[in-house]
Amino acid sequence: MRSSAVLILLVAARASASAAPSLSTLSLSSFPLPSPLSPTHPGASSSSSPSTPLSRLPPTLLPQSLSPSMPSTSNLASLSSSRSNNSPPSVLPTTTSIRVLTEPGPSGIPIIPYTFAAFPSPSSEPPIQGVYPASSPKLPPPVEIPALAPDFALAWTRAHQKAKAKIESWSLEEKVNITTGVGWENGRCVGNIAPIGDFPGLCLEDAPLGVRFADFATVFPAAINAASTWKRSLLRARGVAMGKEHVGKGVNIALGPMMNIGRVAQGGRNWEGFGADPFLAGVGAYETILGMQSAGVQACAKHYIDSEQENQRKVESSNIDDRTRHEIYVAPFLRSVMAGLASVMCSFNLVNGTYACENNNTLNGILKNELGFQGFVMSDWHAQHSTMSAMTGLDMTMPGDIFFFSNTTYFGTNLTAYVQNGTIPEARVDDMATRILASWYLLGQDSPNYPKTNFNAFLPLDEATNEHVDVQDNHGELVREIDRSSVVLLKNVNDALPLKKPRKLVLIGSDAAPAHIAGPNEFSDQGGVDGVLTIGWGSGTAWFTYKISPYEAFQARARIDHTSFSWFFDDFNLVGAATAAVEQDVAIVFLQSDSGEGYITVDGNVGDRNNLTAWLNGDALVQAVASQNNNTVVVVNSVGPLILEPWIDHPNVTAVVWAGLEGAETGNALVDVIYGAVNPSGRLPYTIAKSPQDYPAQLALGGNGEEILNITYLEGLFVDYRHFDAANITPRFEFGFGMSYTEFEYSDLNLVPVEYIGEGQDGQLEANWLAGKPGPQGVGSSTALWLHRPAFTVSFTIQNTAHVAGTEIPQVYLHFPVGAGEPPSVLRGFTDVELQPGEEKSVSVTLSRYDLSVWDVRSQSWMRALGTYSLSVGASSRDFRLKGTLSL
Ligand code: BGC
Repeated sequence: MRSSAVLILLVAARASASAAPSLSTLSLSSFPLPSPLSPTHPGASSSSSPSTPLSRLPPTLLPQSLSPSMPSTSNLASLSSSRSNNSPPSVLPTTTSIRVLTEPGPSGIPIIPYTFAAFPSPSSEPPIQGVYPASSPKLPPPVEIPALAPDFALAWTRAHQKAKAKIESWSLEEKVNITTGVGWENGRCVGNIAPIGDFPGLCLEDAPLGVRFADFATVFPAAINAASTWKRSLLRARGVAMGKEHVGKGVNIALGPMMNIGRVAQGGRNWEGFGADPFLAGVGAYETILGMQSAGVQACAKHYIDSEQENQRKVESSNIDDRTRHEIYVAPFLRSVMAGLASVMCSFNLVNGTYACENNNTLNGILKNELGFQGFVMSDWHAQHSTMSAMTGLDMTMPGDIFFFSNTTYFGTNLTAYVQNGTIPEARVDDMATRILASWYLLGQDSPNYPKTNFNAFLPLDEATNEHVDVQDNHGELVREIDRSSVVLLKNVNDALPLKKPRKLVLIGSDAAPAHIAGPNEFSDQGGVDGVLTIGWGSGTAWFTYKISPYEAFQARARIDHTSFSWFFDDFNLVGAATAAVEQDVAIVFLQSDSGEGYITVDGNVGDRNNLTAWLNGDALVQAVASQNNNTVVVVNSVGPLILEPWIDHPNVTAVVWAGLEGAETGNALVDVIYGAVNPSGRLPYTIAKSPQDYPAQLALGGNGEEILNITYLEGLFVDYRHFDAANITPRFEFGFGMSYTEFEYSDLNLVPVEYIGEGQDGQLEANWLAGKPGPQGVGSSTALWLHRPAFTVSFTIQNTAHVAGTEIPQVYLHFPVGAGEPPSVLRGFTDVELQPGEEKSVSVTLSRYDLSVWDVRSQSWMRALGTYSLSVGASSRDFRLKGTLSL
C-alpha cells in the first residue's frame, strides 16, 4: 500500500480508537493442552459432535476487553533451577509505547478493494515456455523442473464457480456459519467449522511436521531440517507424506507450513520454519505446499506476517518498511500463493501499529491484491480483535470464541448483525464463504470418499471418537532419508569421520539417550527436556509413535562391528563424563538447545531462547571430554544457531555434526552419516556467529502485556548472512556452509538469457521491465507468470574429485548493481547434484525477472535495478567458486 494510504489508515484507526469506550487488557494465554497420558481435560467436550456453533448463539454485545484469566497449564514441565543454564541472556531491552485498542468499529477506513477474478487469468493458449499447463494443485508440476511456474487459474476458477453456486441457496446465517469456528474444544480438531446442510464441516489441525494430537502418525523432521537438506525432492516428498497422513486422519486443513524468517536467532519458533533466507524459505514453502495439496489436504501458510519472536507475540508491533516486507517477509507467502495455497493464517502481532488479522494493507492490499491469493484467511487462535476485521481481509475466525470458552464471537451473530444493519455488505460475507468453500472444492474435498475425521484431539482415549487409524505407511524411511540429508558436517579433522569400526566407543550426554522417565510423549506438546531433542515445543509438534535415540542406534551398530560400546548420560557430572572418555577410540558428546511456542516455559525460556548457549551444561561437557580424549566428536541437536566458541577450536574436538531436529529417526540417521553409509550434504539454513551480538537483530525484551511493544526492523534487508557480509563480520560458520567426505570442483560458468519474449501484453511487460520501467499493479501483479518465468539460465559443471560418492549443493548468489541498496550477495538458486568419484555433471539453474528485481516502493512494483548485475556460484554464501556478469 502507498505510504499515504498507510497514513490515512493509521489516522482513521486512531480517530475511531479515541471514540471507543475502553481499552483492552490483553493477556498472554496458555492453551489447555491434551496429553496422551491424561484422558480428560478441563472443559473438554464429552460429545463427539460439535456443540452449538457460536454463530447460532444469541447476539452478544461485543466485549471491549478480553478476559485476563485464561486457563493455564501451570504444571507443564520445567527443569529444576539447580540445573539451569546460567549464561547471561544475549538480548537487548526494547522500549514500549502506544496503548492497544480492540474494536475500531465502522470507522470509514478506506478499504483496499480487490476483484474476485481468478488469478492468473485462465488461459486457453498452448503451454507457454516455463509455465506448467493449467492444472489442479492435485497434479502439480514435477519437482525435477523447478523452473516451471504452475498455472492453477483454471482450477481456482472452477472451484470458485462451484462455491458460488453452493452458497446461492444458503441463508446469511449459514454463510456466516462457515466463517465462524465452533469455539475451543467444541469439536474433535483444534479448529472446527460445523456442518451446514450437506456440507460436512471442516477439521483444522496442526502441525507443520505431522498430525498433532493423533496417534499412529509420523513425526517428520522439523521444517528447519527439511530446509537444511537443500533438496527440493525431499521437501516435496515430505509435503506429500504429511499431506497423506492428514488426509488419512480426516483433516481438511493442515495448519502448516510455517514460514516466518529467523530474523532473531533466539526466536522460539524458528525451527518450525525454513531458515533465515527468503529464497530458501520460499522454496521450502512452495515445495511443501505443492506436496501437501497434491495429497488432497488444504495447506495453511502461517504466520502472516512479521511474527518473529515469542516475547509479547500478542502485544508487539513489528514496524517495518515496505521494501523489506516485500523482499524478505512476504517472499515465502508469495511462493505459497504460486503453489496454489488454500489458506493463510494471520498472526497475533501488530504490523506497523495494526493487528495482522485486521490489517487492510497486508491482507487486502498485499495478499489478496498483489499476490492474487484466491483462498481464505483464518485468524491465529484468538488473534482477531473485531468484527470489522471482515472488511480488512479476515475470512474465518479461529477457534471461533473471543477467548477460551467465552461463548462469544466476533463473527457469528455479530457478523450477521453487522450485515443486517448495513455496516458490512453481504457481498463481503459471500466472498468470505466463497473463498472457504472454493478451497474445499479446489482440493476435491467435496468427494464422498474424503475421509471423515477419525481422531479426537481433545479426548485421545475416548474409544467412541478415536479410530486409531494408522497413517504411517512407510514414512519412517522418508524421515530417515530427510534426516541424513539434513545433517550438516561442520568440522572434520584428519578424516575423523566417517567412523571405521572403532574398537571402543562411548556416547556422552543425556541428549544421546531415550527419555528416561516416560517415553517420547512425556511432556504435553513436548514442553520439557528428557533425552534426545528431536523437535521443539508448542503447537508445531506431534505425538511420537516411536523415536529411535542415538543410544539405541549406535548400540545396534556397535554390536555388528564388535565395538565395545558404553555411555554416560549425566550432563552435570563432569568428572564422570571425562573419566568415561578415557581410553576410548572415539567419544561422541551430544548437545542440545531447545525452544518453542511462548505458552510453555522450559527452564526459564518463555518460548524464545534466553541465550545461544548449549543447554544442560553442554559446553562444559565437551570441554571435560575433550580434556581426556583426542578424538572427541560433537553432535548438536539444536533448534537454531548456538555459539560454539568455547570449544570449536579445541584440538581434541575432531568433528562436529550439526543434527538439528530430526524427528522420529534421529538415531538411525546419525549412524548412517557418522559411519559413512551416507555422505553428508546438508547445508546451514542460517549463520552460526562467533558472538550473539554479531547478529543483525536481537530479541526484543520487555513489554507488560498491556502496552504494545514496538519492534522496529532496523536491519531492513540485512537479515542473517546479508548483514554479516555487508558489515564484514566473519561468522564461525556461514549460511549455506556444510562439509562432505569428498571434494567437488566447479567449472565452465555460462550465463545465457532465455530467448523468449512473450507475445502481446506479456511481451510489452518484459520489454518495460528490461528498460527499467515500473511493472503493473493489480490483482496478482506480483505472482504474474511473465515475472516468474525463467529469464536467465546459469549453467556450470561440477566434478567429484575425490574417492567417495557424494552430493554437492551448488548455490547461486546474485550481486545487484551498486546503488540498488541490496546486500552484497543474495541467494537466488540452488540444486543438488549426486556424483560418483571422478564423475562430472553439467548443471543449470534458472533465474526469473522476479529474482532479478527489487521492490520499488514508489511505483509499488517489481523493477530491475539499473547497472551491472553479477553472480557467483559456490558451495556456501562465502565460498564462491565461479563468478560472472549478466548481460541484461
Ligand atoms: C499457533 C498456531 C497454531 C494454533 C492452533 C496457535 O497458538 O500460533 O500456529 O496453528 O495455535 O493450534
